[in-house]
Amino acid sequence: MLDKLEQLPADPILGLAAVCRADPNPQKVDLTVGIYMDEQGVCPVFDAVQHAQRALVAEETSKAYMPPAGDEAFNQGIQRLVLGSDSPALRDGRVSSVQTPGGCGALRIGAEIINAATTGARVWVSDPTWPVHIPLLGSVGLKFETYRYYEPAGHGVDFDGMVADLKAAAAGDVVLLHGCCHNPCGADLSLQQWGVIADMAERQGFTPFIDIAYQGLGDGLDQDAAGLRLLVSRLPEVIIAASCSKNMGLYRERAGAAIFVCRDGENARALVSQGLVAARRVYSMPPAHGALLAGRILSDEVLGELWRIELVAMCERINGLRNALVQKLNTVGDRDFSFIQREKGMFSFLGLSAEQTRRLREEYSVYMLDSSRINVAGVNASNIDYLAEAVAGVL
Ligand code: LMR
Repeated sequence: MLDKLEQLPADPILGLAAVCRADPNPQKVDLTVGIYMDEQGVCPVFDAVQHAQRALVAEETSKAYMPPAGDEAFNQGIQRLVLGSDSPALRDGRVSSVQTPGGCGALRIGAEIINAATTGARVWVSDPTWPVHIPLLGSVGLKFETYRYYEPAGHGVDFDGMVADLKAAAAGDVVLLHGCCHNPCGADLSLQQWGVIADMAERQGFTPFIDIAYQGLGDGLDQDAAGLRLLVSRLPEVIIAASCSKNMGLYRERAGAAIFVCRDGENARALVSQGLVAARRVYSMPPAHGALLAGRILSDEVLGELWRIELVAMCERINGLRNALVQKLNTVGDRDFSFIQREKGMFSFLGLSAEQTRRLREEYSVYMLDSSRINVAGVNASNIDYLAEAVAGVL
């Protein structure tokens, strides 16, 4: 039976990272996976996480299963983090959540709930979107439409195109939005544009599903959630996929949450029950370690403050790298890369062709996705000159 199965191609992001790891060139530059890397090219563990981890290991007395909905401190903490501690929706008791294995688990549980409400519902995704959105949501049975989002010539959001396309999104449809730091393009909506999307959702009745995996990596934790909070303040229902992979550096620990903002508390409880049944048939119960660390950080004033300071420093470094990269690219060629400074989070498209990105890999050992998406956090003082010259070399 199994011998019918063929070898599948590697994942376009993780597979490329593996090719880069195997490249013996000491000058290689890894701009593939969205992982924060410091000046030494290392993905560091936050000090706040180290402190929480030491306390957890000292106190942990059991490895029994987590409760199906996960850690209560984590769920409460992540709801406050995403929605704001003064959120009227929280105060009104119309929010619930399920701890999930990372942001992907949250997307999957969100998709299961959407499909339970409307079998094969249409989900509108931005063009482009994170490539994993499609298989993750599609494997549940949801169907896709795309809306225009990134405009390569102007290196920004094609908001008129987005609005024109989303006019066809109706009640029963879901619109998947990137809460901040759009993956892969780094171009975000302004608050005024979020307001237009809220008007459309109100008028047309579609349900927003917001992936906010990069909260805190753009302009700050609260600023990055401003658009999401605007939608929550205006609409009866919003589904949110949140994650501590990026903003706490807990990538491998898989600490995420599916958050449901509902019409009322009864509906919020119903969605948790739906989420738990869905989780039981997919992975049963969530992993403990990452959420227990995040739950501690989010509920402890001292640890929380330490974490916020570290996150701001990380963010400032990424923004500094954006400026430095533009300056370097300006010195080696005449193409205008200043758009990189306007974009947010870890990613930007350099605007190169797939052929140019292939040449960068083969001739310079510089690795970025075929779309020319780069992880800005992979740039550092020791590779920035080489990177700029390599880019100039293929232009
Ligand atoms: C990325 O886009 O590189 C990250 O979100 C990691 C992943 O799982 O693809």
